[in-house]
Amino acid sequence: MDGESQLPRRPDELISAARDGIEDFSIRDIQALLRALQEANDKLQRENAALNSKLRDAQTCQRESLSTLAGGIAHNFNNLLMVVSGNADLGLMDTPKDARARAYLEEIKNAALRAAHLSDQMRAYSGKGHAVLKKSDVNELLRAMKGLFAGAAGQNITLNYELAEELPAVEIDVAQIRQAITNLVSNAIEAIGQAKGQITVRTGLATVDSSQLSKTQPGQYVFVEVADTGCGMAMDVQPKVFDPFFTTKFTGRGLGLAVVQGVAIGHRGTVVLASQPGHGATFRLLLPATVQGQPAQAPQPDQPHSARAMVLIVDDDESILNLTRLMLEKAGLSVVTASDGQTAVELFQYGYEDIGAVLLDIAMPGLGGENTFRQLQAIRNDIPIFVCSGFGEGSVVQDFVDMGCDGFFQKPYDFEKLIRMLRAIVQPSPGE
Ligand SMILES: Nc1ncnc2c1ncn2[C@@H]1O[C@H](COP(=O)(O)OP(=O)(O)OP(=O)(O)O)[C@@H](O)[C@H]1O
Ligand SMILES: [Mg+2]
Repeated sequence: MDGESQLPRRPDELISAARDGIEDFSIRDIQALLRALQEANDKLQRENAALNSKLRDAQTCQRESLSTLAGGIAHNFNNLLMVVSGNADLGLMDTPKDARARAYLEEIKNAALRAAHLSDQMRAYSGKGHAVLKKSDVNELLRAMKGLFAGAAGQNITLNYELAEELPAVEIDVAQIRQAITNLVSNAIEAIGQAKGQITVRTGLATVDSSQLSKTQPGQYVFVEVADTGCGMAMDVQPKVFDPFFTTKFTGRGLGLAVVQGVAIGHRGTVVLASQPGHGATFRLLLPATVQGQPAQAPQPDQPHSARAMVLIVDDDESILNLTRLMLEKAGLSVVTASDGQTAVELFQYGYEDIGAVLLDIAMPGLGGENTFRQLQAIRNDIPIFVCSGFGEGSVVQDFVDMGCDGFFQKPYDFEKLIRMLRAIVQPSPGE
């Protein structure tokens, strides 16, 4: 055959020739076939990459909708739960010690507290929970948690630590990161079960480029990795594990990893997973490394005493306003209330000379939390102002901290803590 002088045949002709057993392929035929195969392969890869990117976008979009929903539910539930648990508290105060009704009220209170805990997890999943960032060293945090992990893991589990030296600091909400790491270690312990196994906690520095992780800024990240030798995860389970309420456990609630992801996103980081069924799992929590930035000031519990005796409560939710007033009055504090920012400003300016502390809801219509805060501060800047919210979006709370607020209270209030704090600032009413 004189294949070299002929035009190469079309790839479809070549394929049918190969199928029919005709073997007179010229070099140019084969080259054309290879080129066609290469092109087809390139096209497939491009299509695959485009599909993957669409899938990632759809997942991000789904996550954002879910997190908005979770955050919204958490916000509304926190306000309602505060009314439930606070009224149960008031009922308990007014019920004689031996009355049967006490047991019912205690049950209501406990259920409301459990629901508030759940709502807190949803808030954490939303990635916008209350976060006051502090420059921290994750290695130190992990060293402080060693005792906790050793207590939780049975004798069958060996815990290893491989902590990188000289890690840059990270700006984190320590309580949230502690919660995320605890969730990862709990899952690792549960994945190993009663068998013999190992959990390795690693830290290190990773450079992320834009092609690696969608929606994560390229740059240097400090990572905390929790690797276990447990049961691992089936391939079809892996894409679902971060979904809220996804669980394969009989008693699981499916919120552990949803919280980890929410916390990671709230810190402008991410969490990635690698697992092979039957061969353990590795979760890596990535947090942006800091080189600059001032450590944020945590709310200071000890405020200078003031001779002023009254607490101004500002909240647009009437039930919460009434409940908080009743609780503070029962604790012997004098209270004046305002259901919007404008009234609060007027009371502060013209009404009550002896306001010694302010409890200000930051999510209010009308004048709004921030403007109210600024105006109150401009009138008198020696009076402590505590801000509060049922949601407490991290960046918003941080803004108030930067503006000089004296502390943040998450709803539902821990009334004991709130009253302790206020008592240290304002004088109780005479006779209390
Ligand atoms: N280290 C791990 N090894 C194997 N599977 C895991 C691991 N971590 C998580 N999973 C899988 O992911 C699922 C979701 O985990 P997640 O922590 O969100 O919820 P959970 O542990 O089931 O319940 P909980 O809300 O009590 O934490 C688990 O049910 C399990 O199937
Ligand atoms: Mg879990």
